Amino acid sequence: MSARAISAVKGMNDLLPEEVERWRVLEETIRETTRLHGYREIRTPLVEPTPLFVRSVGEGTDIVDKEMYSFVFHDEPLTLRPEGTASVVRAYVEHALHTKEPVSRFLYVGPMFRGERPARGRYRQFHQAGCEVFGDPGPVVDAEMIDMLVGLMAKLEVGEVEVLLNSLGGAGTKARYRERLLAHLEPMKESLSQDSQRRLETNPLRILDSKHPQDQEAIAGAPSILESIDDEDRAHFDRLRALLDALGTPYRVEPRLVRGLDYYSRTLFEIRGKSPELGAQNALGGGGRYDALVEDLGGPKVSGIGFGLGLERLLLASKAKPGLRVRSVLIAPMGARAQTEALVIARELRALGIVAHVEGRGGSLKSMLRRTASVDAGVALVLGDGELDRGVVQLKELDAHVQRDVARAELAAEVTRFFGRGTTP
Ligand code: HAM
Repeated sequence: MSARAISAVKGMNDLLPEEVERWRVLEETIRETTRLHGYREIRTPLVEPTPLFVRSVGEGTDIVDKEMYSFVFHDEPLTLRPEGTASVVRAYVEHALHTKEPVSRFLYVGPMFRGERPARGRYRQFHQAGCEVFGDPGPVVDAEMIDMLVGLMAKLEVGEVEVLLNSLGGAGTKARYRERLLAHLEPMKESLSQDSQRRLETNPLRILDSKHPQDQEAIAGAPSILESIDDEDRAHFDRLRALLDALGTPYRVEPRLVRGLDYYSRTLFEIRGKSPELGAQNALGGGGRYDALVEDLGGPKVSGIGFGLGLERLLLASKAKPGLRVRSVLIAPMGARAQTEALVIARELRALGIVAHVEGRGGSLKSMLRRTASVDAGVALVLGDGELDRGVVQLKELDAHVQRDVARAELAAEVTRFFGRGTTP
């Protein structure tokens, strides 16, 4: 009886080699686009002290209240990062990066962890590419960032997208809006969901994120944040809109957009895809300004803005095909002497940038050649004692079904000629 197989953790996926090729192309496109905008990659640990997320994402948010993978290790409360902004801010403060340059632009790409109910486009380990800019209060950088995202979506061929835009105002506005929101919600307290009733005390703004059917009526009638923002916030928002209009970057103002994280202030945006592949999980990415977060996490008074993109969702929506696969060579040696020579030939070809597979398992020629399809070989090289004695190798062009003997000394040049330019990795 064979042992019982073990499956992956629910909501966490293996990415098999064929899919990884699409991931690689996606990540390369993101890296290239952000590089042209001056972003440089930062890599932070997957595990952070739990208070980092409690203090930034905020108590009363779904992420902190329900979704974090938190544990205690040697008395230290730790959490698998549910998002990237808090970690990048921590690193920025910890390394005093504001002393090195007036404006910093970071890119990060990697897994995030949230214990949400798994569904198509919603996973417990998922991947984000994110950008963060420190030291630029905007609104020029806000417009540049949104414009970059729209351009990136076109490059990735994710189909039609919609940019939703809002402003939350600064700290003063938030406090004022909180009072207005409470005045609206308190009288309907009894009709709200349990979660929202609790949030009336802890974090009323988060009631606006609620998907609970019981809360929808109260949310629909809630006062608009945009009506509460002060003159400076308004000027910032108007200038951002004027810049986007001038750039021809389409967006729609959505006064109910609040997004589920507490650190935001002023500019807030979300990109939604319309591809049917996305189903209900149509937020391809989102972000906003967080002008108080660096200070709140013990750093200097430095403003920030950023976004995160969900890579799984981008891949669901993207119609971009990975480029032609690099074709390779399968070497099929018959016998012990030929096996040694096959390893030498493979070494020569690889040095020229050609992918070479040595079929070292032995067996019949027919069975060896069966592997050509799975390794996407364009050429098979067959050699046995006879070929070795004559100083040749048999070269099979697999698509054309033709074969010929090639002098051993000419082999590398001949294979290179066959593949021509542009097929090396
Ligand atoms: P977020 O909206 O929580 O923002 O996540 C950004 C994107 O990550 C979402 O729009 C979605 O595409 C993807 N995503 C989120 N949760 C899941 C999940 N469970 N499964 C699959 N994809 C998911 C943030 O995380 C902020 N840190 C963005 C930011 C950066 N704001 C400022 N700077």
